[in-house]
Amino acid sequence: MRRAKLTIIGAGNVGATCAHWAASKELADIVLVDIVDGMPQGKALDLFQSSPVEGFDCKLTGTTDYADTANSDVIIITSGIPRKPGMSRDDLLNTNVKIVAEVTKKAVAASPNAVLIVVSNPLDAMVYTAAKVSGFPPSRVLGQAGVLDAARYRAFIAAEVGCSVEDVNALLLGGHGDDMVPLPRYTTICGVPVTQFMSAGKLDEIVKRTRNGGAEIVNLLKTGSAYYAPASSSVAMAESIIRDKKRVLACAAYCGKEYGVGGYYVGVPCILGKGGMEKIIEVDLDAREREMFNTSVLHVKELSAAAEKVLATL
Ligand code: LAC
Repeated sequence: MRRAKLTIIGAGNVGATCAHWAASKELADIVLVDIVDGMPQGKALDLFQSSPVEGFDCKLTGTTDYADTANSDVIIITSGIPRKPGMSRDDLLNTNVKIVAEVTKKAVAASPNAVLIVVSNPLDAMVYTAAKVSGFPPSRVLGQAGVLDAARYRAFIAAEVGCSVEDVNALLLGGHGDDMVPLPRYTTICGVPVTQFMSAGKLDEIVKRTRNGGAEIVNLLKTGSAYYAPASSSVAMAESIIRDKKRVLACAAYCGKEYGVGGYYVGVPCILGKGGMEKIIEVDLDAREREMFNTSVLHVKELSAAAEKVLATL
């Protein structure tokens, strides 16, 4: 049986850590791509050399040549500059639209049937960019944000309650920005509503910390942004696609009439399987949740329009 092929573009912290998580799951043969010659090769070789110790059998290739990525099943795009303290994700837009457009063009030419998972920031604008440049059907273009944001939220809740992170279930909607929409009403610990475990004030603090989760790490690191959790979240999506697990994961996905979005890539719960995004799940929102969601969608629309402007100059 042919092993699945996973290409990861950008061999920086997020890309290399994606390769690490994916290899440790024996998810696929992995191709790590970067423009800096030697760096993807060195990281892939180093990771390969860990395989006898860890016991995973995957082919690992580091390259600057997109020919090596041909016929990938899934492509994770991590390229772009990360933010520095004091910057918002949106400050990266002009630079990263150009980078993501270029790598998308090369990657999809080599793998016309792949599913794209975009991780670069500002996420919502980068998914829009990859969708536009690839011309892929919406089911094969996804953005990674909701899994990460929900993971942060779940981790903070578990730490507060003193329970296993595995038993915290949560849903987040909207864009990957400060106006993301955690949904306490749909947050449970082993099926029991989270509101039975903590006060509204405490939960509110956790929601705020989740919204600020990326910036909290940027401020600590000072030289870049988070990578363990973003990479693990991206690989969870890739795994659901490659293994056709049909997991329900919050992803930036194309919403036509879903949630009344009208044709933008927005964070919503989706079923991910072999075909990429197989179904968007619509949950009922109350008036307050709907208002927060609409605000977030408005911001996604602005970011997409800004990306469109940069794309028009290329
Ligand atoms: C974060 C970046 C990766 O949220 O967007 O950490």
